[in-house]
Amino acid sequence: MTNLFIDPDIRKAHTLPGAFYRDKEWFDRSTDHIFRRFWHYVADRDVIAEPQSLHPFTLLPGVLDEPLVLSRDKAGHAYCLSNVCTHRGKVLVEASGQKKMISCNYHGRCFNLDGTFRSMPEFKTVENFPSAKDNLAQLAMQELMGMYFVSPDPLQPFEDMLAPMMERIGWMPFDKLRFDAASSRDFFVESNWALYCDNYLEGFHIPFVHPALNQAIEFERYEYHLFPYVNLQVGVAKEGEPAFDIPEGYPDHGRAIYAYYFWVFPNLMFNFYPWGLSLNIVEPINHKQTMVRFRSYVYEDTVHQREKNSIDETELEDEAVVESVQLGIQSRFYEHGRYAPDMEVAVHHFHRLLALHL
Ligand code: FES
Ligand SMILES: [Fe+2]
Repeated sequence: MTNLFIDPDIRKAHTLPGAFYRDKEWFDRSTDHIFRRFWHYVADRDVIAEPQSLHPFTLLPGVLDEPLVLSRDKAGHAYCLSNVCTHRGKVLVEASGQKKMISCNYHGRCFNLDGTFRSMPEFKTVENFPSAKDNLAQLAMQELMGMYFVSPDPLQPFEDMLAPMMERIGWMPFDKLRFDAASSRDFFVESNWALYCDNYLEGFHIPFVHPALNQAIEFERYEYHLFPYVNLQVGVAKEGEPAFDIPEGYPDHGRAIYAYYFWVFPNLMFNFYPWGLSLNIVEPINHKQTMVRFRSYVYEDTVHQREKNSIDETELEDEAVVESVQLGIQSRFYEHGRYAPDMEVAVHHFHRLLALHL
């Protein structure tokens, strides 16, 4: 395994080697250097809506495999805690619900809802006990638009990473967004997670792969904007297509924007449409299988603008190309490619970040 190098000059650069998407070694390295160090969507705020409630989950099953629990204490503060007992390691909370404390059903150790140690039978004569080590570890957590994001060991504060996104679209009425289960779906994709991101990061393929989407946006005016850990693709609406009504004082006031596609390193996509938000979470299962979760959040008053099947249709078109690329990069004749300098800047950006962190 050699190091990855992506030339900063896109006109000189080569794309990631096929081996990156093919080999388990690169995937394992990404687990530790990327997935452990960046941010993950975990759940919406309502899973712990009430004071004194708990919601256990596993962070990136099969990859990070970290047992965690969301908790809300009596005062209303929310936490993300390790869900592993500090005595001998039993998983603590097994079901969501309301509880006054977290108690271990192995030998009876109890914790407060902020994770601090509370009590333990038979430990009176134990020296230097309890210590800070007997508390449950607290993870970095950030609430955004009613959703919780966590990171086991963040390299960057989520707020800083997302600042460029909020500057652009801070005018949107996020507090009115409601999760819509009927239009949310998970897609299983037979490809490496990064191939799915590569495809998302360029509009170059739109005229070839998405005939319906190509009818709605002005391909010639498609835009890319790069920020340190985020990039943005802007789709400009054709005449008569739905578009945002952007207030004065924001960068795109007066323009007919069809959609903002924000990508957040490494695997989160916030797609804003006039009807609401489609959050895509690209969850690796292993080096050649991925689950892409599409979660829709809608505004009650504009939801009718959402064309019922347009997102699913585009998704299935993308999935087919990405799965074909996964087969293609297995070829002994494929090494790597080159970038189209005006069209593949965001793919180049992603590859540069991967090379930087691996
Ligand atoms: S493992 Fe929890 S009390 Fe022993
Ligand atoms: Fe696409």
